[in-house]
Amino acid sequence: MITTVDGIRRNPARHRILTGDRPTGPLHLGHYFGTLQNRVELQRLGVDLFLVVADYQVLTDRDLADDLAEHAENLVLDYLAAGVDPDRATVFAHSAVPALNQLLVPFLSLVSVAELGRNPTVKDEIAHSGRATVSGLMFTYPVHQAADILFCKADLVPVGQDQLPHLETTRTVARRFNERYGAPVFPEPDALLSAAPLLLGTDGGKMSKSRGNAVPLGATEDETARLLRAATTDADRRITYDPEHRPGVAGLLQLAALCLDRTPEAVAEEVGDSGAAQLKKLVTEAVNEYFRPHRARRAELAADRGFLREVLRAGNERANAVAATTLAEVREVMGTV
Ligand code: TRP
Repeated sequence: MITTVDGIRRNPARHRILTGDRPTGPLHLGHYFGTLQNRVELQRLGVDLFLVVADYQVLTDRDLADDLAEHAENLVLDYLAAGVDPDRATVFAHSAVPALNQLLVPFLSLVSVAELGRNPTVKDEIAHSGRATVSGLMFTYPVHQAADILFCKADLVPVGQDQLPHLETTRTVARRFNERYGAPVFPEPDALLSAAPLLLGTDGGKMSKSRGNAVPLGATEDETARLLRAATTDADRRITYDPEHRPGVAGLLQLAALCLDRTPEAVAEEVGDSGAAQLKKLVTEAVNEYFRPHRARRAELAADRGFLREVLRAGNERANAVAATTLAEVREVMGTV
């Protein structure tokens, strides 16, 4: 059930891909190398790309979502600056597509409470949320995500390892729906795992929006320098690539390697005995050089908020048309009015 990009090259036009992000803040370099680059490459190959701005999902671990509209526009900005083509991709907010959300009702009838309770990703997120109670939305969000994926009948979903249980839920929902109503309405989508390694943040942990260890894609060159200068390293002047024992140094080496298209070991070799300060200087230059075109494109796009809103509006319209067709089929096989 896990495919690689190479498997798609043979017949890219056959595939519809859906993936997306929660609009909780700016995307960072980890997103870029982990998934954005891959999405753009898939689009270049000719797959039909759907990107969901998962705004309702923001409410799974907080009561109120701040600045949703602004975050959604900024997500569109991150996508477009990375090279997503708004004329070919469908970028939409799932709260703007009522028929998508309506699928949640029949879908919820197909999974048991016990199954929902076993989802390791949900358990993990509940543990991390630090909240005393778990909302029904948190508990059921993998089924919501199944609706995100199945409303457009995507057959491939690029995800990180942590999202694999949700894809399993999606496959289960699709299979059970088809069995229960005796019609092949939904495909069972496959996961598309990225080959890129998990990028480490400036503290040596996984680079993440919420951990304060990320370099945002939209950072200026000076901000990038400042963030990287503050990265956790160690006193050993000899730079070596040792992710287990020297995660901070390893994260910087990975980042430089990705930007320079070299191996982390080769970058370590080049820095040699010159110490962490020299490494940070090298990484900063590599990142700023690599992202210069991205940031120039971004600055141009950012100046026209109206255009970003228009991309989202057009994407919502397209997603609504697709969702209406699917919901009509669902009504038909379920025999509802
Ligand atoms: N859950 C994903 C995240 O937190 C975002 C998301 C929502 C998603 N719906 C999706 C990803 C459907 C893939 C497919 O990043």
